[in-house]
Amino acid sequence: MKDVTSNGSDERNSGGEGNDTLTNRQGHPITDNQNVRTVGRRGPTVLENYDFLEKITHFDRERVPERVVHGRGAGAHGYFEAYGKAGDEPVSKYTRAKLFQEPGKRTPVFVRFSTVIHGTHSPETLRDPRGFATKFYTEDGNWDLVGNNLKVFFIRDAMKFPDLIHAFKPDPVTNIQDVERIFDFISNTPEATHMITFLFSPWGIPANYRQMQGSGVNTYKWVNHAGKSVLVKYHWQPLAQGIKNLTQKEAEEIQGKNFNHATQDLYEAIERGDYPEWELCVQIMSDDEHPELDFDPLDDTKIWPEDQFPFLPVGKMVLNKNPENYFAEVEQAAFGTGVLVDGLDFSDDKMLQGRTFSYSDTQRYRVGANYLQLPINAPKKHVATNQEGGQMLYRVDRNQPHINYEPSTLGGLHEAHQEAQDHQPYVEGNIVRQKIDRTNDFKQAGERYRQMEDWEKDDLISNLVNALSKCDPRIQEKMFDYFTQSDEDYGRRVREGVEKAGTSHANEIGGPMGAAHAGEAVREAEQK
Ligand code: HEM
Repeated sequence: MKDVTSNGSDERNSGGEGNDTLTNRQGHPITDNQNVRTVGRRGPTVLENYDFLEKITHFDRERVPERVVHGRGAGAHGYFEAYGKAGDEPVSKYTRAKLFQEPGKRTPVFVRFSTVIHGTHSPETLRDPRGFATKFYTEDGNWDLVGNNLKVFFIRDAMKFPDLIHAFKPDPVTNIQDVERIFDFISNTPEATHMITFLFSPWGIPANYRQMQGSGVNTYKWVNHAGKSVLVKYHWQPLAQGIKNLTQKEAEEIQGKNFNHATQDLYEAIERGDYPEWELCVQIMSDDEHPELDFDPLDDTKIWPEDQFPFLPVGKMVLNKNPENYFAEVEQAAFGTGVLVDGLDFSDDKMLQGRTFSYSDTQRYRVGANYLQLPINAPKKHVATNQEGGQMLYRVDRNQPHINYEPSTLGGLHEAHQEAQDHQPYVEGNIVRQKIDRTNDFKQAGERYRQMEDWEKDDLISNLVNALSKCDPRIQEKMFDYFTQSDEDYGRRVREGVEKAGTSHANEIGGPMGAAHAGEAVREAEQK
């Protein structure tokens, strides 16, 4: 038998040709890639034409279902470098997670950035949160930090997520995104006012993926060697490249020329060696209810005020390598909030709990039962399970392949030794369906509005006026009320703008979430 070369091709097939000889997936050389096999020059195609069938049937299966949200994305590889500290304190005071401990320690990462609502080839200029998902390939296995660019979210209970997304996705009849459906839902969801204030300002359209922040949004826990926990929030802060957002008008100008601008920007920056960098900062709180605060630390519609809970830098991330194949690495990448390592833990944040079920559930459907064997998702360390079968299994990770159960006297895998004390939170209570106590839906929205620069406020008002002027008056009234409860000036400007703009605006360029034109009319009206 002849040797099989390192890339798996058989010399029998090479016919003296090199590694660039076209073959089918059985390794058979393709001698004619231009013509199907037919009976005579003009006759019918024969069914035993294996090379053609192999080629076309694989093409027919090139797509997997796109992500139900965050369909459009771009990714890059890099590394995370630990500082060994959280601010001025040794990081070990708060967490025993190994990747953070040693100053200068590098952990490989893969990051996928994304937009949320529209499909895989939708414009990257749309008003939408941006996803910022990081997979850390740590020595203890993978850790996924699945975040967004904005620091808060629309809702605080996972039960509402499918409704939120349905309202933002295109209408099921017309297949057109409809701002009235969006604000119909939002006007019945007062906790979204903070997020909407971010989203309709220039912060809702980051200039690209490099010049934006990231945030874990949900509250997690850190656990130290003694098993003691603290609550933690994660934030990515762009370093040299800074932060840049777009007004609606700027976004429309880019969109008219290039709807891949953010993917292109990331790819080209990395190709020319201009590697984007982010510092990872954490905010820390003791692990309790904090009755002294006017919000619940487990409520993801709230930020933790920086003056009380400062940003503590714990490391930095550099993205320095583009994917070699988009589908293999970016499309098949699977991130989830349940993917934690020792020293990191869940809090009782209701969104986090719901998310943690949803991600791996959808990935078993989207990518397949063995999605964790794909190189992009597999940990860069030893994996040993007793799991069997499922579509596309290509590897069994046991040294003793016969013993796929545990415990066993004959051998096989055995449980890991517990190195540090387990975190064992005490929980007691009735099982209920109830809102949290401290909803406080408007205060931080008002603070956010007042912190904005004038041009940001103008763009926010302009975008909201444009959107709301297309909505039913009952929806408008509810939104005016929410904005006024947040800040009097905010509510007044939106109300006056909508009254002046009237309801005549069809969906102009930029779609229902944008179009600067109505806002310009408002600015003119305000000046009169
Ligand atoms: C993607 C569910 C809230 C950030 C996804 C996906 C699902 C999902 C099903 C598709 C995953 C895939 O196909 O691989 C949920 C649910 C939520 C929720 C049920 C609330 C209960 C959030 C929040 C954030 C977020 C609050 C931000 C902190 C992301 C990101 C992705 C994503 C960044 C894309 C990950 C990637 O690049 O592959 N989400 N999500 N999600 N979600 Fe969520």
